[in-house]
Amino acid sequence: MPMNPEPHAVALGEYHAAAQAQPNIALVKYWGKRDAELNLPVVGSISITLDSLWTRTEVRFVPGAVQDRVSLNGRSDESVTKRVVACLDLLRQRAHIDWGAVVDSRNNFPTAAGLASSASGFAALVYAGGRALGLELSEAELSILARRCSGSAARSVLGGYVEWTRGQLADGSDSAAHPMLAADAWPLRVAVAITSTAAKQVGSSEGMRRTAQTSPFQAAWIATQETDLAAARSAILTCDFDALALVSEHSCLKMHALAMAAQPGLLYWNGATVECMHRVRTLRQQGLPVFFTVDAGPQLKAVCAPSAIEKVKAALREVPGVLDVLDSGLGAGAHAIALGALEA
Ligand code: PMV
Repeated sequence: MPMNPEPHAVALGEYHAAAQAQPNIALVKYWGKRDAELNLPVVGSISITLDSLWTRTEVRFVPGAVQDRVSLNGRSDESVTKRVVACLDLLRQRAHIDWGAVVDSRNNFPTAAGLASSASGFAALVYAGGRALGLELSEAELSILARRCSGSAARSVLGGYVEWTRGQLADGSDSAAHPMLAADAWPLRVAVAITSTAAKQVGSSEGMRRTAQTSPFQAAWIATQETDLAAARSAILTCDFDALALVSEHSCLKMHALAMAAQPGLLYWNGATVECMHRVRTLRQQGLPVFFTVDAGPQLKAVCAPSAIEKVKAALREVPGVLDVLDSGLGAGAHAIALGALEA
């Protein structure tokens, strides 16, 4: 039986809202879950939220509707719909309604190519869905809801430099993202070298499960994370580029070493990814403030000072196997946008 939402929800009218969120890139990586159902991480992580790549999502709940209709970039896909419906269910539970929704979502960057489209996607979805239902959700509540749908989405709710705390509680109520530093307090840039547009072979959840079960390095990964988090916090709060470069490349290579040692081993890189790593290190030796990071896919993200971005992009474009280089600054967290603004 549909129940009416709280009175403040009705005041918003039409149960319809739109939001935008951007992908984030982890500098100290999240890999491994302490609870797969609730998406609780075994370690905390630190990330930067981008600005020029975005997901825009419109959500309309339709009183009396029994089904959800979901489209991503104008198309409907069964596995996407399944994850979106699970996320809408969390919002419906919160609002005490059981109406179906119409969800229209667009990305201005390639989906499922290791660019954290699920992070921006679920951050935008919980933000728009929460507003459509008139739920007054705090940043921490939005982050927890987004986390339930995709771990790293917890961080895309917030802008700039963000820490997602591991938390200790079994219900996950203390595992949310928190702001560390605003984007404009240290406006680094990010060049993303696209080295493949194929969907990844092993998704992050399966990769994390396999790693935890079979990698001999799992215990060392967990035991050393706190040192990396402390180093990154201090580098960010003092805007110390060299210190951030050191800990970020270390965390990236350590996460991949951990995953490579699983059975069967997880190898997310291709030849161009490795060439890009060498190219970034050569640029740094030449005095350019730049470092790399790579997630569960073959794209390389080069983080640099604004003065270095053109040289970094030009150098990555020259690497054989690089198909394209995207470029972004750091940006805000999830926020409301006007209805009908999806393609603007
Ligand atoms: O949130 P997921 O399930 O897409 O996992 C993200 C894992 C990494 O991107 C490799 C690391 C991270 O902290 O984002």
